[in-house]
Amino acid sequence: SRTVKVALLGAGSVGSQVARLLLEQSEAFAQRAGARLELVGIAVRNVDAARDVDLPTELFTTDAERLILGADFVIELMGGIHPALELVTLALASGADVVTANKALLAHHGPELFEIAERVGAQLYYEAAVGGAIPIIRPLRENLAGDRIERVLGIVNGTTNYILDRMHTEKDTLEESLRIATDLGYAEADPTADIEGFDAQQKAAILASIAFHTEVPVTTVSREGITGISAGQIADAERGGHVVKLLAICERVTDPDTGIEAVSARVHPTLVPADHPLASVHGGNNAIFVESAAAGPLMFYGAGAGGVQTASAVLGDLVSAARRHVAGGPGLGESMDADLPIVAPEQVSTRY
Ligand code: HSE
Repeated sequence: SRTVKVALLGAGSVGSQVARLLLEQSEAFAQRAGARLELVGIAVRNVDAARDVDLPTELFTTDAERLILGADFVIELMGGIHPALELVTLALASGADVVTANKALLAHHGPELFEIAERVGAQLYYEAAVGGAIPIIRPLRENLAGDRIERVLGIVNGTTNYILDRMHTEKDTLEESLRIATDLGYAEADPTADIEGFDAQQKAAILASIAFHTEVPVTTVSREGITGISAGQIADAERGGHVVKLLAICERVTDPDTGIEAVSARVHPTLVPADHPLASVHGGNNAIFVESAAAGPLMFYGAGAGGVQTASAVLGDLVSAARRHVAGGPGLGESMDADLPIVAPEQVSTRY
């Protein structure tokens, strides 16, 4: 049977699980993908660093460029913009399909990467970049491609959902809950990205771009984190029949005077009615509530963070990439053809 060579960049909590599953389940993957997925190497900064999983030492290298140039597929799980941007660019330019979970990279450099991919006929897959294990990118790009999406409301950051949930249920403080969320492996290396809403802002830009077929730059997504939320505000929300959630809100808005339609995307703590499905999303889970014209409301729910959970989404992309490679068919197309105007952050209300 055919063999495709897979290079992995990064062996953190997600990368080490991806490597483990690829090695342990190679037979199953070969059958499902129609080709043997051979892990040819894992590029890391420090070969001797402690890992979550025991992996064969001969797979590790610090020479990411060489590894990339010998691979058919590249899985980028390093996170951060540099050197991920340079390495993903190299991989795509060399014609390799790339699977990434890197939301910062996509939110800041998505359009240029898609352009390179299109030029060489390579594909960029990123199901794991938003919502961890939850299938949401493919549903928006494919299943709902025949519908008109009106609004996307997402709990897309597990750390802040965990913290706000504990402030409601345990009357815990933000600081103490953040400490536990970090121990559970939800938080980013620098949790400022979580609690100040930067992580959710990047995910909002990605979701809005796909949902509205329009490039939504991350700089146009207004952002307010959860550091200003007090125990008093939590109690007030409860008395009014609400829970406080950090939501990524992406919606079509129509100017009442001109009738011109635009896209608005924002992230802020929101009072969610206690009987709304998003109110029942507890702990570190994520959920994305999609309102579309024909399908009506849909909710995608599950583990939004965590190594092995996110690995599921990465491996699903890898199998899709391998099937495309074997069948020679077209991949997932980006269609940013709607090109709607975008509402500037300062015009956006922070209420839902
Ligand atoms: N820090 C992120 C979160 C990890 O808390 O959701 C997943 O992107």
